[in-house]
Amino acid sequence: MVCHRIDRDYNKASGRLALVEGGLTEAVYGPAGNAELARVLENTHEYRVVTDPKEPGRKIHKEIKQFTNISQPVFCGTCHDVTLFNGFRLEEAYSEYRLSPAAARGETCQDCHMGKVQGVVSGYETGPAAVVGGVPSAPRKLTNHFFAGPDYSVIHPGIFPHNAEAQQMATLAEWLQFDVAAGWGTDKFEDNVPEGHEFPERWRSIDDRYDAREILNTQFERLEWARQQRLEVLRNGYVMGKIVTKRADRSGIEFQVQVKNGTDGHNVPTGFSGERLVWLDVTVTDREGTVVFRSGDRDPNGDLRDGHSAYVHAGEIELDPYLFSLQSIFVTQNGRGGEIEHVIPIPYPVTALPRVLPSAVSLVFTGEPPTERNHKMGIEPNGQRWAPYEIAGDALTGKGPYRADIKLISQPAPVNLLVAMQSVGFDYGITPRQAGDALVAGAQVLWQREVVFDVK
Ligand code: HEC
Ligand code: HEC
Repeated sequence: MVCHRIDRDYNKASGRLALVEGGLTEAVYGPAGNAELARVLENTHEYRVVTDPKEPGRKIHKEIKQFTNISQPVFCGTCHDVTLFNGFRLEEAYSEYRLSPAAARGETCQDCHMGKVQGVVSGYETGPAAVVGGVPSAPRKLTNHFFAGPDYSVIHPGIFPHNAEAQQMATLAEWLQFDVAAGWGTDKFEDNVPEGHEFPERWRSIDDRYDAREILNTQFERLEWARQQRLEVLRNGYVMGKIVTKRADRSGIEFQVQVKNGTDGHNVPTGFSGERLVWLDVTVTDREGTVVFRSGDRDPNGDLRDGHSAYVHAGEIELDPYLFSLQSIFVTQNGRGGEIEHVIPIPYPVTALPRVLPSAVSLVFTGEPPTERNHKMGIEPNGQRWAPYEIAGDALTGKGPYRADIKLISQPAPVNLLVAMQSVGFDYGITPRQAGDALVAGAQVLWQREVVFDVK
């Protein structure tokens, strides 16, 4: 509704747009115009719809106003290029795209993100835009509105994705009490419920728990579909290239892993690159399975062993000197003109979700950083990067051959971001720990490869 209630070309506006207000039956804006809707509205005996809000029936918008800008890259650029109030260039997906080979060829964001295959120009589906009570409207170019990217849901599957049946069955608060992980509504759990087990009021009846589980199974299917869409776009963006062994003998092992940008539409990651995590997880073991090298593993919080790990800071675990990560770094200027890394440098009010406030006071007095920037670590269009690894001879066990398991993993944000903003709290009553665990659990392995080093 946000995209289809806009009537002006805002150009780059950092998402600050005025929507055309109105109820369900008011006009919407789209690329194709009104012709097909007019035909439908002339045939209301066939298409059972009404456009008068007071009339009973299936209500739809009464007009489609043509808004061709919606098919242009600059439309996406109204939001996907973000300059904060203090001038900080937070996101630059659109700016990166404008300089890209894909843009030079005339390919659009829509071509890559709304077509048949997520992340590549692949043509569009054709079909009816609507099926009204079983009657389809005329076939047309169809665009995929899923917008797959690195993000995934970390909330209860009973409340997301939206499911009409789930909403009828229980309230939001009741769904949050339904213990999915314990196995409620499965034979395995229900056949073994301990005597006198206490359930919340809404879930006392075993029949209800089975019904709820059935709805959840539909939800899991949908979430799995979404996961596949994400995997598709991400694998088209991040490619594990060559793995080259430079040296492998008793004096040590040296090898390199190539990571390539698979798209020439923009950097990877793009946009919210200061928080996007894409990294190499590397484990080298000897023939008995003893680990002789590790990089890209997590601390007990779920963070990588980088400069933002609380455990690394506390000196409890070591910094990962070989970590290959494409996460960009927010840096702010400190008082003496130098720069320092920040997890999230934006000031936010304690009463609401994080948002940037324009400073009413001179920064000289508040001590707020006068400059902030995103030190980009992403890979440019068609670019590539090598991750070098070295295992010293004395780390080897003499029990070769050695085997390296190499994974390229994507996670939308690090756990330390949740830590940085936890004081404002999270929706749906989830704790920072639960959010962090869900974040880690959803991390996706994009590519996995194995190499063997034949050292005796
Ligand atoms: C040539 C194909 C192509 C074009 C053109 C393209 N993209 Fe992408 N886009 C991709 C691929 C592949 C990915 C997955 C890699 C990634 O997440 O960075 C992606 C990822 C993204 C992401 C998720 C990035 C993240 O990490 O959060 C956003 C947002 C995005 N694109 C927006 C845009 C916008 C806006 C435009 C136009 C200004 C655009 N894209 C143009 C292929 C394309
Ligand atoms: C009204 C603002 C707005 C417009 C217009 C808009 N987006 Fe987005 N888009 C967002 C927000 C907000 C997110 C979620 C946060 C993020 O990833 O930056 C998002 C997420 C995405 C993602 C998924 C990244 C993820 O979070 O997993 C893709 C891909 C994407 N948009 C592509 C597009 C394309 C292509 C267009 C133009 C057809 C477009 N967007 C237009 C606001 C917008």
